[in-house]
Amino acid sequence: MRNDILENLQKEIYSRCQKESNQFGMGCYYHIAAVVKNAEALAEKYGADKEVVLIAAWLHDIASITDYRLYELHHIHGAEMARHILQGYHYDDQKILIVEECIKNHRGSLNSEKRTVEELCVADADAVSHFDGIPGLLYFAYVQKGMGMEEGREFVKDKLARSFQKLSAESKKYYQNKFKTVMDVLEPFR
Ligand SMILES: [Fe+2]
Ligand SMILES: [Fe+2]
Repeated sequence: MRNDILENLQKEIYSRCQKESNQFGMGCYYHIAAVVKNAEALAEKYGADKEVVLIAAWLHDIASITDYRLYELHHIHGAEMARHILQGYHYDDQKILIVEECIKNHRGSLNSEKRTVEELCVADADAVSHFDGIPGLLYFAYVQKGMGMEEGREFVKDKLARSFQKLSAESKKYYQNKFKTVMDVLEPFR
């Protein structure tokens, strides 16, 4: 495991998230950290190359946090940026290719074809990351958007339900208890 790379990537992402140029705020760092955590668990579950998955998870949104103008195509720009960074570490060329594919195909909304199990881990970890960021979602709904009690709750539930739908069939099974628990907390009398 290239712990040197992983430690540096964590620091690099943290510092880019803190910069003025990151228009998503620090919430983005917690999102990325949640993706890393879930991606690690999924890599173990699916027998993926954990090192590749962790590197791709740290880097998957790097384009968005670096320059807001890259957001629309952040999966493409992010893959390029990852290649440059990893070449700087003389990282294995074959593995760089897989990292690039993980980043290019991480967006559930784009429904891109995933060919490797590493890609699946990163995309599913991204989709499920909202479940580790409920306070952030509530804060966004009630404070930043000024929604009322009902509206805010529906907003958060809807966002979580859509995230869950993006998961692969296998990961849906893996996360179904977490999904149910969170939904029950948001609406206990359903
Ligand atoms: Fe993304
Ligand atoms: Fe993401």
